[in-house]
Amino acid sequence: MTLPAPRPAVADPARSSASEFAADVRAGLARAPQKELPSKYLYDEVGSALFEVITVLPEYGVTRSEEKLLTRYASEIVEALPADVKVAELGSGSGRKTRRILEALCRKRPTSYYPIEISRAALQLCQRELADIERISIVGYERDYLAGLAEVSRQRKPGEQLCVLFLGSTIGNFVRLAATRFLRDIRAMLRPGDTLLLGTDLVKPVDTLVAAYDDAIGATAAFNLNILSRINRELDADFDLHDFEHVARFNPDVRSIEMHLRAKRDVHVHVGAARLDIDLQEGETIWTESSHKYHADEIPAIAADAGFTCEHQWVEKDWGFAESLLAVH
Ligand code: AVI
Repeated sequence: MTLPAPRPAVADPARSSASEFAADVRAGLARAPQKELPSKYLYDEVGSALFEVITVLPEYGVTRSEEKLLTRYASEIVEALPADVKVAELGSGSGRKTRRILEALCRKRPTSYYPIEISRAALQLCQRELADIERISIVGYERDYLAGLAEVSRQRKPGEQLCVLFLGSTIGNFVRLAATRFLRDIRAMLRPGDTLLLGTDLVKPVDTLVAAYDDAIGATAAFNLNILSRINRELDADFDLHDFEHVARFNPDVRSIEMHLRAKRDVHVHVGAARLDIDLQEGETIWTESSHKYHADEIPAIAADAGFTCEHQWVEKDWGFAESLLAVH
C-alpha cells in the first residue's frame, strides 16, 4: 500500500466574491434581448462534480480524445519543451489529462506545477489526483486564470522558463475575439523561450456536437440547471428548476454549441442578493455557455495574431481534437 502524499499547498484562498457574483447575475439577467449568465458560475462544487461526469459520458468525446493525444505524445511534447521548465495550468480540472505530461517531465527532472483554478473543489481534486507523481512539487492558485498566471510569472527567477497548459478546449468557451484577446494577455506575461500548450476541440457533424452537449442521461442538463440552483443557494433567489429546460443548439455562424435554459412557462424570479426581479416569457432563454469549435489549420494564424508561433500540432482524428504547441520568440 502506498502512503498518501502530503497535501500540497494552496497559495491563495481568494475567491470570486458574493458581491461580484450578484453584480454579474444582475447585469446578465437584466440584459435584453438575450438574458445570459457567465459560464464561469457553472463551476461550483456541484457543477465541477457534474462536469467530471460529463468528461466520461459516451457522447462527450472531448476529454477522451485529448487524453489519447496526451498519452500517445507526452514524450514528444516534453522533448519539444525547454530543459528546465516550470508548468502552469489554467483551469486544471481534475488534473487527469495533465498527469501524462507531468509524469513525462518528472521522469527527466523534478518539476514544479502550478494549477490555477477558480473552483476550489476542482483545485483540491487536482492536487489530490496528482500528488503521487514522483519528484513533483505542486502549488495551487485559487484565482482567475490571468491573475494566477501573473503571480506565477512574477514569482519566477530570471532564466526560468514557463510552459502554460490551457487544455480541454476551454479556449472554446470564449467568443472568438475574446479568445484572441485572452491569448494576447497570456502572451504579455510570457518571455522568449516560454510556451503555451493549447487544446482545441475541432468542428464535427452537428448531431455529434448536439449529442455531446445534450446527453441521454441528462448530466449536461443537470450541469446547466445547477447554475440556477447555485443562484438560489448563494444569492437568495427563488428559481423553480422545474420551470426550465436545458437546450443545446449549434450556431453555424460562429461554429459554436450554445447552452441555454429555456422557460417552460411564464416565470417571475426574485434574486434577493442582486436586488433584482425579472420576468421570463414562455420559450425565452438564458444563455449560459458557448463552446466554439475550431479547424486545426486555423490555429497557427490565431496564434500568430496573439504573438505566438505554432511550432507543433498533434491531431486526434477519431473524435477530432488538436493539441498545439505555441512558442514565444
Ligand atoms: C470546459 N469546457 C471546455 C466544456 C466544453 O466542452 O465547452 C464545458 C462543457 N459544457 C458542457 N459540456 C461541457
